[in-house]
Amino acid sequence: KLMGQHVQSQEKEAKLANKLGIHHCTIVIGNTDADQSSASDMARATTEVLDFLLPEGASTIAVMGGTTMVRVAEAMGQQIGLNRDLMFVPARGGLGESVDIQANVIAENMAKRTGGKSRALYAPEHVRSETYSLLLEEPEIKESLELVENASVVLYSIGNAMEMAERRGMNEETLNELRKSEAVAEAFGEFINQEGEIVYKLSRIGLQSSKLPSIPHVVAVAGGKNKARAIAAHMKTAPPHTWLVTDEAAANEILNGG
Ligand code: BG6
Repeated sequence: KLMGQHVQSQEKEAKLANKLGIHHCTIVIGNTDADQSSASDMARATTEVLDFLLPEGASTIAVMGGTTMVRVAEAMGQQIGLNRDLMFVPARGGLGESVDIQANVIAENMAKRTGGKSRALYAPEHVRSETYSLLLEEPEIKESLELVENASVVLYSIGNAMEMAERRGMNEETLNELRKSEAVAEAFGEFINQEGEIVYKLSRIGLQSSKLPSIPHVVAVAGGKNKARAIAAHMKTAPPHTWLVTDEAAANEILNGG
């Protein structure tokens, strides 16, 4: 019953999960890069995965930003909040995204749609170490960070390294550094190479990918042929219990390429 007919064969999902070294994949039909309805299907499939994973009662969900997460928020409804007491909180401080795709806004929107609560995490991405320690002492920031650390679900997307660096207005010097280090993917403000090694990091405030193994449910949502390499690189570092929601275009590219 989990996942409707908009989903690819279970055999392919198992094959992809196996290739990526994770327990679960959900593959929606089509290419979310090119096709709006496929993108909505991926968002809807994500809400179904959440509905399946979330227990009754209280849960904290740490969310990241980006256009994929905006869609996931739009696909959420009261159903997810039924018999649940949900708290949405941004997993990281500012990553230089424009306001409408920031994690703060997405968390708030998810809370509204599910009848849950949300908390903001206002922390700039570049701070000097003195400021950093002071920020961590701020009650409002401290409380949000405590929630993030104890979240039972983390929900995020994966981007192409150079696209994300440009979107976030990183300077020419950093862009060159990223090219030199052959960064292919970005998630949580961390840029990684094809081997999954971190080559550059934005914002030290909030959840680090190294903490993912201790979060009970990890849900990554990323599709499109264009993100296939980024997804494959990222999954080298992802804990085995990660659940990937993706599309046919990315899945085929990953399964057929190397
Ligand atoms: C965010 C992640 O959730 O999604 C980023 O925090 C990632 O690290 C981004 O790069 C991808 O953005 P988009 O717009 O492709 O969904």
